Amino acid sequence: MFGPRCIHLILRRCSSAPCPKRAVTPKLLRVQEALEVPNPTGDDIKVQGWVRSVRSQKDVLFVHINDGSSLENLQVVAVPRLEPRELTFGSSVEVQGKLVKSPHKRQRVELEAENIRVVGPCDVLTFPLKYKTCQSLEYLRQFPHIRCRSNSLSALLRIRSEATSAVHAFFKENGFMHIHTPIITSNDCEGAGELFQVEPASKERVPGENPHFFNVPAFLTVSGQLHLEVMAGAFTKVYTFGPTFRADNSQSRRHLAEFYMVEAEISFAESLQDIMQVMEDLFKKVTNVVLSKCPRDVELFHKYVAPGQEAKLEQMLKNPFITMSYTEAIDVLKRARQVFTYKPEWGQDLQSEHERYLVQHCGEIPVFVFNYPYNLKPFYMRDNEDGASHTVAAVDLLVPGVGELCGGSLREDRVDFLQSRLQKLGLEHTYQWYLELRQFGSTPHGGFGMGFERYLRCILGVENIKDVIPFPRFPHSCIL
Ligand code: 4AD
Ligand code: MG
Repeated sequence: MFGPRCIHLILRRCSSAPCPKRAVTPKLLRVQEALEVPNPTGDDIKVQGWVRSVRSQKDVLFVHINDGSSLENLQVVAVPRLEPRELTFGSSVEVQGKLVKSPHKRQRVELEAENIRVVGPCDVLTFPLKYKTCQSLEYLRQFPHIRCRSNSLSALLRIRSEATSAVHAFFKENGFMHIHTPIITSNDCEGAGELFQVEPASKERVPGENPHFFNVPAFLTVSGQLHLEVMAGAFTKVYTFGPTFRADNSQSRRHLAEFYMVEAEISFAESLQDIMQVMEDLFKKVTNVVLSKCPRDVELFHKYVAPGQEAKLEQMLKNPFITMSYTEAIDVLKRARQVFTYKPEWGQDLQSEHERYLVQHCGEIPVFVFNYPYNLKPFYMRDNEDGASHTVAAVDLLVPGVGELCGGSLREDRVDFLQSRLQKLGLEHTYQWYLELRQFGSTPHGGFGMGFERYLRCILGVENIKDVIPFPRFPHSCIL
């Protein structure tokens, strides 16, 4: 070991006479990190990524590299002799060189290559993405294994990732605890029968043994709500954010068989207002984070995919959301000049054409519709006991371009009300544990669920829900 004196000498000697050069290993940077170096002065770096363009001129070679860390590519400049034979659009590469200020207006920095190595070649003739071609979201949907390398899908997936972190941050900042609710469950929370049943693929029957793997029929969850209600009875404010499954046979632009749902449950919540406030705050807070963290990615959608969406979103963010009872909503629809395919009638569900009209009627500002007919909604919603026009304390948030984004309610916390409703549905035995929650320190409580893909569609203006999830699952399609 060198003592402090020795080190001092070595340093002195080094400062008077040139030190023998040590080989410096170039630092591996992500493209985004390289683009953000404030004042590049020729540091040796290395980047790895995929080639977005190759332009070979007589005495200079330009290569653009992207590694998914940003929408912007890093420009590599090199002398033509460094061009490997297999360097093409789509190939994966590792480039080592000096990061310098760029003389070109279009970028601040560039990488002067000293070595370009093709890690994996790409057959451009059969590669589904084409150089300098803007391919539609619909075209890209055919290639779920490749489309994440396109500008639009990679921007979308970065936004999705930031929005996910922002959802978690929102709940943490507001005193909610995160719960992993189960994916396999024995209940049908929504009672709509849109369940996927879970059984082992290989059905080896043991005589005398229960035929069900779990002894009871088990399903992929349609909602984590009932499990969250259990947890809200101990932790007061809880949330979950995970995959949710519905076997509804819909090919619509707003339904998936597997989607992500953000769900929150709040004990001691006495009014729907408490629930609506959380929904509105969640929407606005998460969106503001996304706008500030991914401005370029969002711009791609607002400029090229859904022109006009930026102004629409601003309108949603700057105005307080509107509230309207279901009964008022039906009145508005009945007075409308528009002819609907489904005639609006008190007691009937709102169709997407009705939802669209209501949002338009509210000046394209999100609108909470509350107090729905008792007979339309699941067993767990709190009875408003309001006589002839019998309603429950339910609330849906309708948003421009999408329709229903969130569904929530106050929960029936009174044991006698719940018991008689379950009895009528023949579910008393199944939900014995749920009834018990109302016997052991019950509290008024409520919560909601927000469809995460519908949220992304709403802020970005993307028309089809299949384009805002990495691997869409819907009837007759489960690619990969
Ligand atoms: O309105 P839903 O069915 O509400 C519930 O499941 C409640 N148990 C949630 C709760 O209170 N904890 O679903 C909530 C949201 C809908 O508003 C919609 O945005 C989304 O989930 N959603 C779907 N998104 C994509 N594909 C589908 N098939 C969807 N079904 C519902
Ligand atoms: Mg709903």
